[in-house]
Formats: sequence, structure tokens, C-alpha cells
Amino acid sequence: MSASPQTIKHLQSLKQQLNHHNYRYYVLDDPQVPDSEYDRLLRELQALEQQYPQLITPDSPTQRVGAAPLEAFAQVQHEVPMLSLENAFDEAELRDFNRRISERLIAADALKEDQPIEYGCEPKLDGIAVSLLYRDGLLQRGATRGDGTTGEDITQNVRTIHSIPLRLLGSGYPPVLEVRGEIYLPKAGFEAMNRAAREREEKVFVNPRNAAAGSLRQLDSRLTAARPLEMCAYGVGWFDGGGLPDTHTGVLRALQQWGLLINAEMTTAVGVDACIEFYRQLAARREALPYDIDGIVFKVNSLSLQQQLGYVARAPRWAVAYKFPAQEESTTLLDVEFQVGRTGAVTPVARLEPVFVGGATVANATLHNRDEIERLGLRLGDTVIVRRAGDVIPKVVAVVPGKRPKNAAAIVFPERCPVCGSPVETLEDEAVARCTGGLICEAQRKEAIKHFASRKAMDIEGLGDKLVEQLVDQKLVSSVADLYRLTHAQLAGLERMGAKSADNLLAALETSKATSLPHFLFALGIREVGEATARNLANYFGSLEKIAAASEEQLLEVDDVGPVVAHFITEFFCQPYNTEAVAALRGAGVSWPDIEVAERPPAPLAGLTFVLTGTLAIMSRSEAKALLQQLGAKVAGTVSAKTHHLVAGEKAGSKLTKAQELGVDIMDEAAMIDLLKQHGAL
Ligand code: IVH
Repeated sequence: MSASPQTIKHLQSLKQQLNHHNYRYYVLDDPQVPDSEYDRLLRELQALEQQYPQLITPDSPTQRVGAAPLEAFAQVQHEVPMLSLENAFDEAELRDFNRRISERLIAADALKEDQPIEYGCEPKLDGIAVSLLYRDGLLQRGATRGDGTTGEDITQNVRTIHSIPLRLLGSGYPPVLEVRGEIYLPKAGFEAMNRAAREREEKVFVNPRNAAAGSLRQLDSRLTAARPLEMCAYGVGWFDGGGLPDTHTGVLRALQQWGLLINAEMTTAVGVDACIEFYRQLAARREALPYDIDGIVFKVNSLSLQQQLGYVARAPRWAVAYKFPAQEESTTLLDVEFQVGRTGAVTPVARLEPVFVGGATVANATLHNRDEIERLGLRLGDTVIVRRAGDVIPKVVAVVPGKRPKNAAAIVFPERCPVCGSPVETLEDEAVARCTGGLICEAQRKEAIKHFASRKAMDIEGLGDKLVEQLVDQKLVSSVADLYRLTHAQLAGLERMGAKSADNLLAALETSKATSLPHFLFALGIREVGEATARNLANYFGSLEKIAAASEEQLLEVDDVGPVVAHFITEFFCQPYNTEAVAALRGAGVSWPDIEVAERPPAPLAGLTFVLTGTLAIMSRSEAKALLQQLGAKVAGTVSAKTHHLVAGEKAGSKLTKAQELGVDIMDEAAMIDLLKQHGAL
């Protein structure tokens, strides 16, 4: 069927609108219409194109979904070779670069003595270099860098990337324009991809760069289309006809006008000091940026000066990449040790051949848990990639394939605690394996004492981790209360302690005795009771006796306390070892003032017992249970004469019948929600 002129016009207008909105969204990050409006226009275009397939053009926004898989990528010869960059690894090397090119330009009379050079500054994105060829504004070819001269044709794949215009916007672009840039995966997209892979129990990617490379290398571009890739333009390879601005940053701004994404951090700096300042500022923000960068590229901004400077073998003389310290390095896994934490968690720790990474020497890295060792497929002696980013603790992210020594031993997770020999158990829904020794376990005891002494707990100045280890190893202390029985003679005899430090520590112990209820409660090290929860508990109940005597239902009334925490608290105060420790601390003189608690009206549902049955539509039964408990109600599992209300959802069975027999009040989910709302729980 042939389309009327109006239809053709409407179709063109839809394409134009969609391309414009696409640009606002993906390039300028400043959408003008809600997503729903974009989707509506796209659906309208799709419907029209289905009706008139002859009107589908390659630049239609509907043509970004990927095409039939290729057998192999075709080869592409780059008209202008794709070069690499010279690196600078410290300030001196950057100054050296600036001095060399200044001298060269001065000698050529292109720069005056003492005249600083203006540089264009951009982050060096950690992705895959790409070349995009536009003819008369239409995207004709996308290619990888390959060896710099010959790359691979990835046109189908680049067409799926929304920040790459299928047709250039506006006007004034050269009839032939080859744009160069970097394709990368923003951190959030990478995490979403790995989350999805984990859910499907597939292999996860090591880092955004590998994930971007893998996504681009797909012969089936429909797979590429499903990956949230972006492309940032950083230059022009060659152009034919027309003209371009005469500075590098001017060219990038023109590219932005024509619909390409350029980096938002791009700026200019006059002189090398300003470049160093920009490097420092961006280095400080590196972790917070939404994508990985591995340095800053400084390029002489004037294109005529660039031309004067020319090229060395494989890199331009007019640009340099000032690299950040690498965040990933490879090294050898020497051994795996198992550490036992305060709550008994058994954590495997990798002992590594020391390696300089992320600005520090790393010899240990966490392996988190048993699943992680399995996921990495780790064996002793493997070459591994270690990542240390910012202040994050170093982590083994991958095994380097093909470098495994012969007969590399498997890593055996211990079935018994390496410290106390108690069985190690893993609860069903937990990834963490725990030593079941509790405070029999010396490791757990040491950690409990370190926690007790720490600044946000009892704040015992001078009682650091090393000292606690010595005290426990030498059997001078086996519980927290023992700390207050230490004598001057015992302390002065320890390694690295003299009479003076012993005096100081005894004084600090004395001072720590006068504490507050939140500090003391936190110091006890009850599982999941952090500082904030300790404070909330203290303010709600006012005294330790009341907290120790509280039922799980009463504990649930406190902000921040859910069923799991409530259970840990009651469990803690049930154990004689713990109540004895509290009594011993008090006996030793540890004290705190009670907190005055305002008279509180009884909880609105206190004294009432509910039973939940059937399927609820709005919330899960466990959510409903937690909310009812928050209002003071008891929630029981079976209906009896003591039940006050039965909440019956869909498909309620025997409990409903029983409640009817016993004459228990029956409410539906809506009535329960009204009740929760009425008392402010919702
Ligand atoms: S300019 C002739 N600018 O770094 C100039 N490169 O070692 C060549 N890269 O493979 C590139 N961000 O893909 C330039 N803002 C940026 C860059 C950048 C990342 C990559 C580029 C190239 C490598 C050079």
C-alpha cells in the first residue's frame, strides 16, 4: 500500500521528534518529555512502519534493536591510523612533557618564551576505542581500533547505542566526518548487568571495561542492544569537505551540537600547573563519577599547534595521558587463611605476593565467603587480579586464565573453626559460615574485647587490637570484665609496655567505667545492634533491665528493630554467660545513668493476639506481622480461644474454619490495613 503525502510527512516528523528527544535524554542528560511520551511516539512510529515497511529508513529510531547475527566481523581499513597516547605517571613526567613541547614550539617560532600552552582536558575513559563514519550526516560505519590500521566492522553493534546518532543533528557538519571516541559501560549499567547474570547463575564480568568489550564483540547485535553501553566522542579522525573549529575543545563542542555525547568534565587549562590542579580535582572525585576513568588526557588545544608538533611512531606529540594509579594488578595467590570475626563469621583471606595497586602495597585481600571462592574458581598458586579502588578493602576479582600451575591445590573450606575447633555451620539462607564456639572461641573473644574497648563503645584509650591479642594470648584476660581486674605489674610486663603506659591504660580503664547506656549497650556487641540501634533501644526503654526483660514484640516497637534484631537481643540476654558478664562489669564499677523515658501510652494493640492466614495481596504475611507487632500486638501461628482477630486473605483454609467455630473476630486484608493506618503504622 502506498502512503499519502501526509502520512510520509507525519512519519518524518515522528522520527525527527524521537531523534531530538533521544539527544536530550542520552547526550544532554536533560530530557524534555517524560519517558511515557517518548514511548508513545515510538509506538506510533512502529505502527506506521509496520503498515508501510517501504518507508523504514536506516536512521529511524526503531532501527536500534539489533540485526540478524553475523558470521564474522568484516575488516575495516582506517583512513587515518588510530593512534595511542604517550603516558605520564607522575607530576614530573607531565612537566617534562609540557617542557619538551614548549621548547619545540618556541624553536619553531610558534610560541613565545614563557607563554603557557592552552590544553584541552578530558578524563581518559576506560572502554573501547571506536571510529564512526558519517557520510552526509548518516551513520555509515562503526569500527574498532584493532591494530590501529585495520579494525573490525561493528556497525550493527554501534547502531544499538543510544548516545550514537544514526543521523547527525543540525547542519554545518562536513559531508564526510569520521568521529573517534570511547564506548564504555557506566558503573550502574555494569552492576545491573552483573546482578542479572548472577540471578541467571551465569558468569559475571570482572569490570566495566571487559563487560563493554564483551558486549561489543557480539556477532548478534540484538545482544549488544540489551547492554546499556554509551559512547563519548573525543576527536575527529578525518573529514572531507566543509570545515571544523580551530581548537580541539571547539571541535568537541561542534560534535555535541551535531548530536554526539562529549564528556561533561571536559575543560581547558592554561599552563601545566592548571593541568595538575585539574588532575587533582578529578582524582579526588574519581570514585564518585558514574563511569571508570584511568587518567586525564591533556591535548594541545590549538589545532594549528597540534599540526606543528606532529607525531612520533604511534602517538601524537601534542597529547599525553596522565594516568591515575592502576586500580587492578595481577599477582600470585600464595595461600588462603580463614579468619574468625566477632560474630563467628569465618572469612577466607587471600595471602598474596605483595603488589602495588591503587596507590598502596597489597599483600592480603578478602575473599568474602565460600561462594565467592567457588564463583572465582580459585586454586592455590593461581595468578589473580586484585582490585583496590579508593579506600575500599582490596579484593580478588578474577583468576587469570591459562596461568594455573600444574597440580594447583583446591581450597578447602574448614569444617571446624581454625581457632577453637568447634564445628563451622552455614545457615540455610546465609552465605556466611560461622564458628559455633561462641565465646569459647578465642578468636571471637578477642574480637568481642576489641569491640568493647573501641572508641564508639567503651572508648578505652590505649587498648588497641595488638594489646588485646597479647592480653588474651597470655591468659590475663578472658572476658571483658577481666579488663578491669588488670594490675600495674601485669601490664608493665607486656611487650612494648612500660610503667608509664601501664599507668595510662589503668587510668583510661578507670575513666571508661563512667559510661552511658547507649555506649554500654553497643559495647556488648549484640549481633546487628549498631550504634544507632543501641541509641534507639536506650532511649525507648531507659534502662538495661528493661531491655533485657523486653519480649520480642516489645523490642519490635523500637525504631530500626526488626524481627531478626529483636531475636538476637532476646537471645543475648537469655545466655547466662552474657548476664554474668554484665553483672561482673557492674561489680567492677562500670555504671551509667538511666535515661528518663516519657510516660508512653500503651501500644495501641497491646494485649491483642492476631493470627494471619491465606494469601495477602498488598503485603506479605511477614510484613503484616511486623507492622502488627510494631503496634504491640502478638501474632500467633495457630488459632485458639486466646486469639482475638484472624486476618484472612485469599484461599484461607482450616484456620478460618477454626476461627469461625470459636467465634473469633475475622477481618480481611483491607480491614487490617485500615487498622494499621488508623494507628499510624502505614
Ligand atoms: S585521544 C591520537 N582522548 O585511550 C589521540 N583517547 O592510549 C588518541 N581514550 O585507545 C586518543 N579516553 O581509546 C583520547 N579522552 C580521550 C580518551 C582516549 C580514552 C583511549 C583511546 C585510546 C587510548 C590511548
